[in-house]
Amino acid sequence: MSGVSVTKDAQDAAPAADDLVVLSNVNKHFGALHVLQDIDLSIARGEVVVVIGPSGSGKSTLCRTINRLETIDSGTITVDGKELPSEGRELARLRADVGMVFQSFNLFAHKTVLQNVMLGQLKVRKTDSAAALEKAKSLLDRVGVGSQADKYPAQLSGGQQQRVAIARALAMDPKVMLFDEPTSALDPEMINEVLEVMQQLAREGMTMVVVTHEMGFARSAANRVVFMADGKIVEEAAPEQFFSNPRSDRAKDFLSKILHH
Ligand SMILES: Nc1ncnc2c1ncn2[C@@H]1O[C@H](COP(=O)(O)OP(=O)(O)OP(=O)(O)O)[C@@H](O)[C@H]1O
Ligand SMILES: [Mg+2]
Repeated sequence: MSGVSVTKDAQDAAPAADDLVVLSNVNKHFGALHVLQDIDLSIARGEVVVVIGPSGSGKSTLCRTINRLETIDSGTITVDGKELPSEGRELARLRADVGMVFQSFNLFAHKTVLQNVMLGQLKVRKTDSAAALEKAKSLLDRVGVGSQADKYPAQLSGGQQQRVAIARALAMDPKVMLFDEPTSALDPEMINEVLEVMQQLAREGMTMVVVTHEMGFARSAANRVVFMADGKIVEEAAPEQFFSNPRSDRAKDFLSKILHH
């Protein structure tokens, strides 16, 4: 893992060989709102990037464009050198390379935990059912909810459901995992059990983009912090540098609010 943040100048040149996700000059509007403005962001294989910024700055939209839950107006986004196609089976397959975990766990309510983790493997990856079962069990064990496999999502705590959602995303063998405020909907005592799973993934070398207000996680797990405001990347830096010495007034203002509330 590179761990070293790529400088802006280096990003403008040809993508480095180990860049896994590359956004170049990405623009997106919602009507008159220019929600993503000339976004250039390259994420190296194995890198953990934490995205922070005020509400409405475009963090979720940024995540959603990476696996094409949102289209873009101009620019390019590649994952492992490939642009996501706009539709069809190819999109489903390439989208599965990008695991996504949302604030609301989005599990299938009428399927058991085990079925939730098997489904994508069977439908999208065409894994045979014995292998899908084996993998689902081992992933559920890994995130600490193996004993809940036969329950339905509503029978689990929020923290358990979110760990199932992580297992479900991992079951597709994603190249990169996107987390959009994965702990924001959780009661405080459940936040750490989810963050610990994410910490472990980061240690194992998973490439991750994490939108979060958990600054402890950012400090300990991130290789780079990206600060967004008003649809732009205003600042990016290693966490210790960003938190101790933010350069922009926007970032200083934002940090003073979240660190002293
Ligand atoms: N589908 C949509 N249609 C129209 N406007 C939208 C849509 N989705 C988001 N927006 C607007 O785009 C802007 C950026 O939204 P986004 O959800 O990306 O922000 P965010 O940084 O994730 O905010 P938060 O911290 O509150 O989650 C906001 O002004 C939002 O109202
Ligand atoms: Mg958001």
